Amino acid sequence: MSSNILRPNHELTDRELSEKRGLKRLLKRQMRRRKLEVRLNQAIMRKDAVTEQFSRVELDQFLREEENELFKTQSMNLVALENDYNTSSSTILPKEHRESEAEQAKAQYDIEELYQTYYDLLEKQLESKQNGNSEHYEKTPKACDTTNGTLIKDHQKAEARVLLINMTKGTQTVDMFENSTALMGYVRQKFQERACLAISSLCKLDPRRADLGQQPPQFWNLLLACRSICSIGCGPGCDVLGLVKFLQCFAATPKDETLVDRVIFLDWTMDKWEPFLRPLIDGVLIPQKYVASADCVFGDVLRPLSEDCNQTAKDLLFLQEEGGVDLYVTSYLLTETRGKWHDFYRDIIDMAKPGALFLFAEPKAWQLHSLMEQHGSTKMEYVWLDSSMYSPMMQALEGRVGPAVLLCRKL
Ligand SMILES: C[S@@+](CC[C@H](N)C(=O)[O-])C[C@H]1O[C@@H](n2cnc3c(N)ncnc32)[C@H](O)[C@@H]1O
Repeated sequence: MSSNILRPNHELTDRELSEKRGLKRLLKRQMRRRKLEVRLNQAIMRKDAVTEQFSRVELDQFLREEENELFKTQSMNLVALENDYNTSSSTILPKEHRESEAEQAKAQYDIEELYQTYYDLLEKQLESKQNGNSEHYEKTPKACDTTNGTLIKDHQKAEARVLLINMTKGTQTVDMFENSTALMGYVRQKFQERACLAISSLCKLDPRRADLGQQPPQFWNLLLACRSICSIGCGPGCDVLGLVKFLQCFAATPKDETLVDRVIFLDWTMDKWEPFLRPLIDGVLIPQKYVASADCVFGDVLRPLSEDCNQTAKDLLFLQEEGGVDLYVTSYLLTETRGKWHDFYRDIIDMAKPGALFLFAEPKAWQLHSLMEQHGSTKMEYVWLDSSMYSPMMQALEGRVGPAVLLCRKL
């Protein structure tokens, strides 16, 4: 079994086809299990006894069915995979592993607090901008206001929905980002989730979790040594907040020292996102010593980095320091720009220094497979930081339990 199964079904042998179907079935069951576990945990957190009871019964029933299913999959050698996925919840973890998980949970909890600080500043800043300059900012009322009896947060959510649907389909256009209510809705819906995704993905590399399998140690050491970051398709900057929080928790930087020297935020609608980035930079990242300096710059991944429109970004990245930054993060952008990003990333990867890291998060793995096919094999080594991390056979599938996350290191 290998990446062979990535070929279209009509090119597969009967055996490969049946293996592929088996893996897909397994993935579906993993997803179902995760859904049930999440629902149960949420009910426990909400202290909702009725849903908790109901969810427990449903999860128990599912796990019983799973046992039967395992007998069926035994012949396909999938039991080991199933066990990999189940390890963290079904066995007692070593103390070091549990410590690492507790630190991750603390980092994710801190994101909630940082987000609240950021969100309050954002609301204030947008409000004062609107008062001083009504030309560029449509009125963005506070979340607790109502219009025609509808909560503003619902209004923001509805506006963001249109944007999100277009992002998913890859049909977003620059003018859709002019709607600051939609951008506010995006922040409300995605900011914390994406910051936490960066943390939970990278924590998987913590050597204290080695009980789950062999992890490439060079990635962890390089990660903790990162002093400069570029976020490509940064949006409101959630990925960077997750990364610096991760570094604060896991790198041994002295408390009074700034964690990261420079961050470059890059986006094709930077003029629209900058009002959302400023409160994060000036109100959180710099005063709380996460970051010493930050630049916001236009950059379009649909065009090669060498093209005139990307010149400022290229200069910022590579003029000051040969080889550019230590870590490039791209989250939920490749799927949105579907394969039209190859020239841009080829340029960046070619110009990056050896040892530079690239973190990618996408809803599914297809664009990441395409990245590795075209740019990866000779220039980068990589590790999947998602549900497929310890299941090489599952890595060839497009689906994951949760998003697909890939970390690459330039050779
Ligand atoms: C789905 S959002 C992701 C934002 C953030 N990284 C996150 O994970 O929440 C995609 C981002 O990519 C930006 N984007 C879309 N097309 C782009 C392009 N051609 N070049 C650069 N950025 C682009 C959008 O403005 C938006 O900020």
